[in-house]
Amino acid sequence: MTAFVRNQWYVAAYAHEVGRELLGRTVLGEPILLYRAEDGRPVAMADRCVHRRFPLSEKPSRLDGDRVVCGYHGFTYGTDGVCVSVPGQQRIPRTARLATYPVLEQDSFVWVWIGDREPGDTLPPRAPWLDSPEYTVVCGMEPLEADYGLLVDNLLDLSHETYLHGGYIGTPEVAETPITTEVDDKTGVVYVSRHMADAACPPFYAESTGITGRITRWQDIEYHAPCLYLLHSRIAPVGTPDPSADGSDPDAFHVEVVYGITPSTEKTTYDFWAVARDFALEDQRVSDFLRENNHTVVMQDVVALNVLQKALDTEKAGYQELSINIDTGGLAARRILARLAAEGAERAEAAAR
Ligand code: FES
Ligand SMILES: [Fe+2]
Repeated sequence: MTAFVRNQWYVAAYAHEVGRELLGRTVLGEPILLYRAEDGRPVAMADRCVHRRFPLSEKPSRLDGDRVVCGYHGFTYGTDGVCVSVPGQQRIPRTARLATYPVLEQDSFVWVWIGDREPGDTLPPRAPWLDSPEYTVVCGMEPLEADYGLLVDNLLDLSHETYLHGGYIGTPEVAETPITTEVDDKTGVVYVSRHMADAACPPFYAESTGITGRITRWQDIEYHAPCLYLLHSRIAPVGTPDPSADGSDPDAFHVEVVYGITPSTEKTTYDFWAVARDFALEDQRVSDFLRENNHTVVMQDVVALNVLQKALDTEKAGYQELSINIDTGGLAARRILARLAAEGAERAEAAAR
C-alpha cells in the first residue's frame, strides 16, 4: 500500500457539495463531517459522536442553526466541536468535544488539512481554471476501490490512453511519443511532458473543438504530491504557430484537466475530476459532451484500477514489477510520496517523544 502523507491539504468535496445538509467523507482514514454554517463558512469536524460513535453525517442527525444534533441520543455540538448539550443532565463532560479540522475553499474545492500540526501559511496547490470566468468547467467525483498510489501511477503515465481509452481520448501517437520528466524535489512537483507534433484528433477533442484534421497535441502534467494533478492540454490544427513568448496562444484550444486525489482508506480513494476549457464557453452541447465523455474515461480507469487492486491483493508478498521509460514520472511520484510520508512519520515520532 502507498503510505499516507499527513500534514497536507486534501480535497474533501466540491464547494457546491457542502451546504446545509450534513456530508460525511473519510480522508486518510479519518471520518469527517462537513457542512456550511449559516454565515456560509465551511465547517469540518470529526464525524463520530463522542457518546456512542454514531456518525453525525447520518440521518436522523441534523443541523439546528449552526449546531449539529446527534441523531441517536441528541448530544449537540457547536462549530468549534464543543458539546453544548447532552440529554438528561445539566453537567456536560469536559471531554465531550469533537476534533475540528482546518478547512478552506479554493478553486471550487473544499480542502481539509489532515495532520498533527497546524497548516500555518501553507496553502493548497492551485487550480485557478476551475473558478475562472475565462473557462467553462464540467466535473464529478468517483470513488475508487484502490490504493491512491494506483491512481497516481495511472495519471502520470498517459500512454495508457491509447489502450484503455481508445476511441475516446487515446490515439496511437500518445503511446508512441516519448516523454520528458522533471522533478522538483523541493516543492514535491513532478512534471511530465509529451508533445505530439502531428497526431490524430481523438473524438474527445474533435467533437468539442470542431477540428476535423490532424492536430498538434501537447500534454504537460504537473503532479503536486500528494493531492493535486494538473494536465495542461493544448490542441491545435497542425501548422498553428507555437505559443508566443508572453504565453498568448490565440489559435490553440486549451483544456485543463484537474484531479483531486484524496486517499480515503488504505484501499479506497476519492477521484475528483474536472475538465476546464477556454473555448465554446457558452455551448451547452459541448459541456454535455465533455461531461459524458470524460465520465466514461474516468470510469474506464476506475474499473481497470479496481481490477488491478484485486489482482495485487492476491499477489504473493515481494512480487516484482517491470518498469520502462513511460514509468519515469510515476516512479518519481512514488519516491516523493515515500519521502513525504517518511518525513511526516518522523515528525509525528518527534512530537510523541
Ligand atoms: S451516539 Fe450520539 S448521542 Fe449517543
Ligand atoms: Fe486514464
